[in-house]
Amino acid sequence: MKLSIIGTGYVGLTTGACFAEVGHEVTCVDNNVEKVQMLLDGKVPIYEPGLAELVAKNVTAGRLKFTTSTAEGVRDGDVIFIAVPTPPQEDGSVDLSFIEKVAREIAESLKPEYGYRVIVDKSTVPVKTGQKVGDTVRRYAPAGVEFGVASNPEFLREGCAVEDLLKPDRIVFGSNDERALALMRRLYDPFNAPILVTDIESAELIKHAANSFLALKISYINAVARICEKSGGDIEKVAEGIGMDKRIGRSFLNAGLGYGGSCFPKDVKAFIAISESLGYPFDLLKQVEHINASQLDLFLDKVREKLWVLREKKIALWGLTFKQNTDDVRESVAIKLAQRMIAEGADVTAWDPQGVTTARRFGNLGDSLTYGEDMYACLDGADALIIATEWPEFANADLNELKSRMRSPLIFDGRNLLDPQTVAAQGIEYYSVGRAAHLPEPASVGS
Ligand code: UDX
Repeated sequence: MKLSIIGTGYVGLTTGACFAEVGHEVTCVDNNVEKVQMLLDGKVPIYEPGLAELVAKNVTAGRLKFTTSTAEGVRDGDVIFIAVPTPPQEDGSVDLSFIEKVAREIAESLKPEYGYRVIVDKSTVPVKTGQKVGDTVRRYAPAGVEFGVASNPEFLREGCAVEDLLKPDRIVFGSNDERALALMRRLYDPFNAPILVTDIESAELIKHAANSFLALKISYINAVARICEKSGGDIEKVAEGIGMDKRIGRSFLNAGLGYGGSCFPKDVKAFIAISESLGYPFDLLKQVEHINASQLDLFLDKVREKLWVLREKKIALWGLTFKQNTDDVRESVAIKLAQRMIAEGADVTAWDPQGVTTARRFGNLGDSLTYGEDMYACLDGADALIIATEWPEFANADLNELKSRMRSPLIFDGRNLLDPQTVAAQGIEYYSVGRAAHLPEPASVGS
């Protein structure tokens, strides 16, 4: 089939590449001339495992092309996806101006001779956006064009987006138009995944409800971690025990510094605002947000408790991205942590496997943050190490090397990556989340 995707961000580009991979002909449209030029030159502007290879392969095969022209996308795609940003506004509600603009541009490019087209919302949008897209296209399109509107929320995770798209747990799409649904079924047929077909409003709600539920799981386990700290329990054991119940499951029960990224913070906020606008104050989700924000405060309290005054303390920070396997630093708790410690006068040196360039560009840290040469170099002379992102290289760190470089061997692990006993046995003082503090064996104190 022929399809077009308007917007080549994380979601648009990865979705386009994966549709091409299963054999469809894909036109990716973006109004950012520089970005399209980069893609035409064979460069992928984001770091996402496997994506660059997939793009190169499908461009060579002639199934994937890039353009800045929406009119070209509308001409070439029987199905036209909208995958543009839906950023949050001050009050938490969603800014839909990019969606509205693209809906208008699509309308103005539609022609009766193209035949039936489906316009699909891929961006995360509030319920009832599909209706508004339909109204807008109807208002601005020339007489005689035929189209349907569908919602097809995306569940990909950054860092494993290609795999999530090619082997999804489920595919959800909704429309109130049978012709649109028939085309969507054909489009997703090659994926061999369970498909749930709904009305358009339910499909829109599924995205916000799913992400808010996952955020709720994280805040729940972080709240239980606080009880563990107060009672002597171990959150890792508690999470394991809870997670063995199939009805609950172990995933998204990792206690730590809380959730960040471009989705959860924004989507929880949006769902609260959407519910409020519909007359239901979603207080449960307000608590989810509150617990998440205070995880960082509690963690910093722990650091201050040991280091007393942060001013002029040399702190090594491992992790800048909002999670592992990505270069994305949007709403990263690690960046917030760096900002807070620097504001208190700490001398912070950071390292991240993929996030240094993005942190320099988007971290709002100016020259106040120093970047280490590598993971171990940033430990030289440090009073403490803070682990803020769950990269596997941190979990597998060489503790001997680490200890030999630090001024005082003290670790605050905000992601529970290390084994407390192993660390303490190396003579390193160790604090994590929801687990008792682990102090070095007496014989090795001060060694
Ligand atoms: C999320 C959803 O998982 C995905 O389905 C949706 O399409 C977009 O939003 P993403 O933002 O890429 O994906 O990251 P995810 O892996 O879900 O992690 C989000 C945040 O939660 C990260 O900051 C991560 O560190 C944190 N997290 C995750 C925890 O603190 N504990 C956990 O157990 C899991």
